[in-house]
Amino acid sequence: MANPFPDTLRTYIRAGYPILYVVTSEEDRAIELVGRAISEGEPRRKLHIWSVSRGLCTTDFKVVDRKTADPKRVLPFLLELNEPGLFILEDFHSFLDERTPVGALAIRQLRDLVGPFKATRKTVVLLSPVLKIPPELEKDITVLDLEMPDEEELAAVLGDTVEQMKDNPRVDLNLEGDAREKIVKALSGLTRAEAENALAKVIVTNSRIDPEDVDLLLTEKEQIIRKSGTLEYYAAPERFGSVGGLDALKSWLRVRGRAFSEAARLFGLPNPRGLLLVGVPGCGKSLTAKAVAAEWKMPLLNSTSAKCSVAWWDSRKRTCVAP
Ligand SMILES: Nc1ncnc2c1ncn2[C@@H]1O[C@H](COP(=O)(O)OP(=O)(O)OP(=O)(O)O)[C@@H](O)[C@H]1O
Ligand SMILES: [Mg+2]
Repeated sequence: MANPFPDTLRTYIRAGYPILYVVTSEEDRAIELVGRAISEGEPRRKLHIWSVSRGLCTTDFKVVDRKTADPKRVLPFLLELNEPGLFILEDFHSFLDERTPVGALAIRQLRDLVGPFKATRKTVVLLSPVLKIPPELEKDITVLDLEMPDEEELAAVLGDTVEQMKDNPRVDLNLEGDAREKIVKALSGLTRAEAENALAKVIVTNSRIDPEDVDLLLTEKEQIIRKSGTLEYYAAPERFGSVGGLDALKSWLRVRGRAFSEAARLFGLPNPRGLLLVGVPGCGKSLTAKAVAAEWKMPLLNSTSAKCSVAWWDSRKRTCVAP
C-alpha cells in the first residue's frame, strides 16, 4: 500500500485545518511529500519553509524576509501575508515552552492565527522529531505521523542509486532475478537518508551493488539500534550448518523464510509474525535464533534493558529479537 501521508495531509489542508504537527526526523522527505501534496491538490498555495537559522524561505531557499529569523516575528509576518499558503516551521516546538516568555508569546501568536488562517486558506505545519504540544494548543493542533519509507519508496531509492551508477565502469551492478527485492527488504526499517547512506557505503566498500552485500546493509541497522539504547545488535555468524539435529525445525524455518518474499505476498501469504522457542537450558534456542537470523539475512537483536526469555520477530522493522 502506498504511503497514506500525502492523502491524509491533503485532506486536512483542503478542509482548512490551520495548524498541523508532523512528527518525523526526516525533514527533507516530509518537505518533499508536503510539496507534492499541495502541488497535486492545492496548487494555488505557495510553500514556504521557516527555520530559526534561515528565517522564512521559499522552497529554493531564497530568504523572504530576514527579520523572520526571530521566532517572535515569524507568526505575525505569516498573518499579514495576503495569499493562500502553506508554511512549514522546522523545530518550532523548541519555542513552545509555556514557562518562558518567548514560549508564552509563541503559543498566543499561534492561537491568534487559527481563525484568520481558516478564512484565508493558510496552514502552518510544525515539523519536528518530537511531539511537544503545550496544553493551550491541544485543541487547535492536529498531529500526523510520517510513516517510515515503505518498500515502494525504498525501491525508488535503490533505483535512483542504480541510475547514478549505471555508467560508472568501476561499479558492478548485479540486480538480476530477485536481487532488487532482497536489497529493498534489507533496507526496510531505515529512513530514506539512512538507506541512501547504506547503499553508498556498500558501493564505496565493495564497488558493487549485489544481494551478497545484504550483510553490510544490515550493519547499518546496528547504528540505529545502538542509538536506541534498549536493544543491542547481535552479530550472528552461525549458520544452520552449526546446529546439530533439530531437522524438522530447520526445514520448517527454511520453508517459512520464503514467506517474506514478494511472490509470497502476491500469493496472499501473511508475513511470519513470530516464533516462540521453548526448551531446557542449553538445548540450542539461542543458537537457533542466531542461525535463523543469518539464514533469513535479518538483524538479530538482544534486549539489554530487560531479561526477557522470548525470541520474537518484528515484521514492521524486519528484525529478530532474542534473549
Ligand atoms: N543442537 C545443537 N547443535 C550444536 N550446538 C548446540 C546445540 N544445542 C546447543 N548447542 C550448544 O550448547 C550451548 C548452549 O546452547 P544455547 O545457548 O543455544 O542454549 P539455550 O537453549 O539458548 O540455553 P538457555 O535456555 O540457557 O538460554 C552453545 O554452545 C551451543 O552451541
Ligand atoms: Mg539462550
